[in-house]
Amino acid sequence: SKNGYSHFMMKEIYDQPTAIRETLCRRLDEKRHIQLDDIKLQKEDLDELNKIYIVACGTAYHAGLVGKYAIEKLARIPVEVDIASEFRYSDPFVDDKTLLIVVSQSGETADTLAALKEAKRKGARVLAITNVVGSSVAREADDLFYTWAGPEIAVASTKAYTAQLVAFYMLALHFANTKGTITDQEYVAYVDAIEGLGNKVEEILSQKETIEAVAKILVEATSAFYLGRGLDYTTAMEAALKLKEISYLHTEAFAAGELKHGTIALIEEGTPVLAIVTQERLAEKMISNMKEVKARGAYVIAIAKEGTPHIGHVADKIIEVPAVCDILMPILSVIPTQLLAYYTSTLKGLDVDKPRNLAKSVTVE
Ligand code: F6R
Repeated sequence: SKNGYSHFMMKEIYDQPTAIRETLCRRLDEKRHIQLDDIKLQKEDLDELNKIYIVACGTAYHAGLVGKYAIEKLARIPVEVDIASEFRYSDPFVDDKTLLIVVSQSGETADTLAALKEAKRKGARVLAITNVVGSSVAREADDLFYTWAGPEIAVASTKAYTAQLVAFYMLALHFANTKGTITDQEYVAYVDAIEGLGNKVEEILSQKETIEAVAKILVEATSAFYLGRGLDYTTAMEAALKLKEISYLHTEAFAAGELKHGTIALIEEGTPVLAIVTQERLAEKMISNMKEVKARGAYVIAIAKEGTPHIGHVADKIIEVPAVCDILMPILSVIPTQLLAYYTSTLKGLDVDKPRNLAKSVTVE
């Protein structure tokens, strides 16, 4: 049931603190070490690998982009990410030294399942991250990570996405710990930080009036842009997809540094530009990109980590996100973008839970 919420999507947005805690805490032993019972992959197997491929569709693909970043940074294994419908027809470089990680909320997406089978045929080991116990993807995989997000009913994915991010952080930590690429102190600090994310998500949810006010600006727009760099670019892609699919507002995501290679021509007086600014070493660069669009008339909305210097001078509106270490910021920065999509859709009087032309699970090619 909707549990008193007006729509499933809103309920599921509010389920996120619990989904994050469940996915992590039920797998911590008394020493606060991550125990992954359905992952059979041993140290020897990890040492044999020369590459990880992450393959998925839509929102799950965006989770994979964050997963690449976490695994490469913490466990130092090279990772490629591809869209399932591209991967399966691309004769990919996959062999018995490849680990394929498939990500699928439903576990029934046709292209993801076909990609899994193609990689297995080429000898790869398959690890599945899925939310549905006993789903097709779960049955075909060698190793399994269940996100414990609970059933997701709204077509637009929210809590499954944040739970997938938690899954990737946990896998990255588990691989890193097994391979010895991080210290015990770092390991413990990350586990603590992930555990604290639930409370920080709640802090963001309590700012929903500020976010609804920004949605009123988007309702009037004919197109919008999300910008980001590094992990914020990944969040920008996910944010743009969410806004498009439920509010039908044409939205594009851009790597902020690419703007002047073409897209900036589209900025007109009043065009909303949503800049995601959570990565400390990239913040200054983002601020200069915000200045560039503002000089062309853009209305600049910043979704920024609290305490980001100088942001108040360039943004017309700021949505602040609590601070955690940069690598974990995608879990927090995506929350306001989910609410923005939700409010833009409901303010337009659209069917948030069942947007036109879309099905929850795409079981045909
Ligand atoms: C967007 C959305 C879709 C799904 C995609 C994959 O909000 O929900 O992009 O993420 O269709 O679905 P699963 O994860 O079930 O394979």
